[in-house]
Amino acid sequence: MVSRLRNMITAVTKYGLPKSKIKKLGSLALLSFFVFLACTPNQDQQKSTAVDQPVSIAIPHFPEMPVPENRPITKKRIALGKKLFNDPILSKNQDISCASCHLSAKAFTDGRNVSTGTEGRQTLRNSPTLFNLAWQPYLFMDGGNPTLESQVFGPIEEHTEMDNPFTEAMARVAASAEYQRLFKEAFGDDVNPFTLTTALSTFERSLVSYNSPFDQFYYYGDSSALSPSAQRGLQLFTSEALACESCHSFPLTTNFSFENIGLKMHYQTDSGRARVTQVAADHGKFKVPTLRNITLTAPYMHDGSVETLSEVIDHFAAGGVGHPNQSKQVNGFAITARQKEDLLAFLASLTDTNSYQQYQD
Ligand code: HEC
Ligand code: HEC
Repeated sequence: MVSRLRNMITAVTKYGLPKSKIKKLGSLALLSFFVFLACTPNQDQQKSTAVDQPVSIAIPHFPEMPVPENRPITKKRIALGKKLFNDPILSKNQDISCASCHLSAKAFTDGRNVSTGTEGRQTLRNSPTLFNLAWQPYLFMDGGNPTLESQVFGPIEEHTEMDNPFTEAMARVAASAEYQRLFKEAFGDDVNPFTLTTALSTFERSLVSYNSPFDQFYYYGDSSALSPSAQRGLQLFTSEALACESCHSFPLTTNFSFENIGLKMHYQTDSGRARVTQVAADHGKFKVPTLRNITLTAPYMHDGSVETLSEVIDHFAAGGVGHPNQSKQVNGFAITARQKEDLLAFLASLTDTNSYQQYQD
């Protein structure tokens, strides 16, 4: 199994990775580090350019990662973006960083119902995981933000998050001699809106989760990766009766559509997709979230109103509350206690400690 995956690895620098290095990648877990191995430029290449060489992150069983042509991923940009992500310098009172609400140990969520920003202000929504953002066609639960780069302005300026004018955040970064040096090294350029947003978006694109027991079982034929119970849970997840996979489609565990799952009868504080479209039929619809690392990201739903995965299953089994916009796929099903255990075992198999450990600070 391991050797099959190794042969499928296609992540290489623009100039290709020497065969000898590929052979040294001995285990599946090491695929996680491939991007870092792959991006060591040789001496000649280093001399010819001021900045480091582009790397591509290719996951064999995922669609090709879309990366804007003018923002290639490089090792130094990832490192710079990570530093900014963890630095409270961007917030008004210099007390909150992106990582305050997106903790790596919780798959980049924060364990709260809704997040708390600067001066104890409550946000509207539950903090979502930041894994596999690169494949998202639009951001936010209402799809109201088109790109990772434009998204950066959101939390920095938002009153309930960092509450800082973007120009002020940028000026502070630019005033730091250390950041000036790091931006020069990563971009051959100063701190400006393009380089600042690109550093953060590049770090975000590097957050990939693809190496869970489910992946090992389903895509690489490792029959021992899932317990018999989790295997039965997988059958249930994809069954016509439960229809989970019709929305949480493989391999990303989302089809990115907007759906109303009948969580409540009245979505007064947050109308979801309708906030963007102003269309009544979109009331209570939210972007289908990824289920990868779902055991690490409680509480659940856009408002964090559901505490456990067991209660999430109860919700779908009951068929929702019957909101007029509710999806036809959410129509209830019968499930025994043992089947529920199986489905929970399957959901747990989407947790990918192999991929996320490398991001621990
Ligand atoms: C105060 C807490 C808080 C801070 C600080 C914060 N975020 Fe978030 N983040 C959230 C919440 C809550 C959401 C969900 C917003 C929504 O969907 O409308 C979110 C959503 C996102 C998304 C969209 C994810 C998706 O699946 O659509 C990205 C990307 C993101 N944040 C990155 C960042 C970055 C980068 C920073 C720092 C510049 C940051 N966040 C700072 C709480 C926070
Ligand atoms: C019609 C599409 C659809 C179907 C079918 C569906 N889901 Fe979902 N699921 C969603 C949407 C949309 C949300 C987010 C709703 C919200 O935040 O209000 C969600 C949320 C979840 C969450 C919480 C995720 C988080 O990060 O908060 C879990 C867990 C989940 N679904 C599991 C399942 C399981 C298990 C099934 C099958 C029994 C299933 N879903 C069927 C669309 C669907």
